[in-house]
Amino acid sequence: MLTKRLKADKEGIEQAAKILKNGGIVAIPTETVYGLAASAYDENAVTKVFGAKGRPQDNPLIVHIADIEDLKAVAKDIPNSAYKAAERFWPGPLTMIFKRTDKIPASVSAGLDTVAVRMPSDKTAREIIKQSLPLAAPSANTSGKPSPTKAKYVIEDLDGKIDAVVMSGDCAVGVESTVITLVTNPPRLLRPGAVTVEELKEIFPDIAVDSAVLAEPKKGERVSSPGMKYKHYAPKTETYLVEGNTEQFVQFVNSKENAAAVCFSEEEGKITVPKLCYGTADDEATLAHSVFSVLRRADDLKVNAIYVHAPSKNGVGLAVYNRLIRAAAFRVIKL
Ligand code: TXA
Ligand code: MG
Repeated sequence: MLTKRLKADKEGIEQAAKILKNGGIVAIPTETVYGLAASAYDENAVTKVFGAKGRPQDNPLIVHIADIEDLKAVAKDIPNSAYKAAERFWPGPLTMIFKRTDKIPASVSAGLDTVAVRMPSDKTAREIIKQSLPLAAPSANTSGKPSPTKAKYVIEDLDGKIDAVVMSGDCAVGVESTVITLVTNPPRLLRPGAVTVEELKEIFPDIAVDSAVLAEPKKGERVSSPGMKYKHYAPKTETYLVEGNTEQFVQFVNSKENAAAVCFSEEEGKITVPKLCYGTADDEATLAHSVFSVLRRADDLKVNAIYVHAPSKNGVGLAVYNRLIRAAAFRVIKL
């Protein structure tokens, strides 16, 4: 299949919407990461999304809407707090899970009776959704690889497997949306993102953080968010997450042979092995913006092991830590 490159302009947006309405699949930019979209009401198109990504059938998709009025069509038993959260955080990087209406095919939710919904803030995404229908869209990467924050990463993974890519700029946030479920009491954070736990507490004071956010689910354990159980975001090279201060980290990586470091900018000059920087330690937003790019480029360093200096778990740092611990297959070294 020839994958069309569409511009993020009026004509490109119209073409993308047309392909989607006709049952095609299109990668679109959002403020978090690029998504691989299909009409959420079209079971056949949704099946194509799973196929192109090589995504396990038991991992449900997020439904994207452009207007709060559209929430009722896809979700039911919507608590009042959800409208408050929507007012505060939508459009933006928050996904909320509700009971699913019959309009949403079971395959979107991988057979669960719930549905995850989000309203992106990216202008191009919003316009495409308005002109098509609610869109089911996972991140536009091959399953297991880092989520794409640039159009070229989408092409790297999916060229020839999807109908089109809307070529826009780099994603502003860089990590996927915060996912919470409102089906449980109290509500639970399933995946951290740019909407932080601290901010969520303003609307959901009793919100719980799912154990899978920071720890490896035990074998056979039922996870609330199926996506949490898979090894994710991983370079091919063996990757480790390293906790410690600058002095400890620098000494540790410099003593390793055939290894590379993913480090903070302020450490760059002191590290003698190959390295990639992902921002300064105290600027979690920049770390989030760069983390997937760095993970994608890590294999180019052609070493036997990659040691990543762990970020703080403050604010959006928790999301960065959550992605890195999966990239490292839960191998954490505490110095
Ligand atoms: O920022 C984002 O959320 C991006 C952009 C494209 O919107 N999308 C994204 O989708 O990250 P995906 O499919 O890569 O991640 C969706 C996550 C998975 O961990 C999945 O298991 C979880 O949300 N999820 C989706 N529906 C769910 C449901 N009904 N119950 C529990 N978890 C759900
Ligand atoms: Mg994904």
